[in-house]
Amino acid sequence: MKIETVDFKIRGDERGALVAINQLTDVPFEIRRVYYMWNTLPDVERGFHAHQALEQVLICVSGSCTVTLDDGRERRDVLLDRPDRGLYIGPGYWREMRGFSGGAVLMVLASQTYNPADYIRDYGEFLASVGATKEE
Ligand code: TYD
Repeated sequence: MKIETVDFKIRGDERGALVAINQLTDVPFEIRRVYYMWNTLPDVERGFHAHQALEQVLICVSGSCTVTLDDGRERRDVLLDRPDRGLYIGPGYWREMRGFSGGAVLMVLASQTYNPADYIRDYGEFLASVGATKEE
């Protein structure tokens, strides 16, 4: 499985650090939605879905969390612990988020507005959608 991360340019100076993210140049899609999660309790697990068409970039802009990616054949954990690194997730990936540190803020840039019909929330349905089976 290929893990696609994007390192954003840090425009730092003596006042501190700044990252600017432009659609199509810094992330490979037009950004139609931004949302973020915070105050996530340490033992909480989120996500547990895939998308049919949505593209996203996840950035832990404060603190850290672990994203588990599953393409139906393999599962990989990705630690997000820096505000200048994004994790690109396209269609065909089941994702789970856990291990939120105190003060973690997970920001998501998304290619589409919120559409519940784009979600695949059943793991068996996800496996079927990527042509995998549980026995594989
Ligand atoms: P949910 O999909 O459960 O989050 P996660 O998959 O990360 O665990 O979303 C939580 C709630 O927020 C749910 O009621 C749907 C709503 N929501 C929106 O209204 N718009 C959005 O863009 C997102 C991501 C969620």
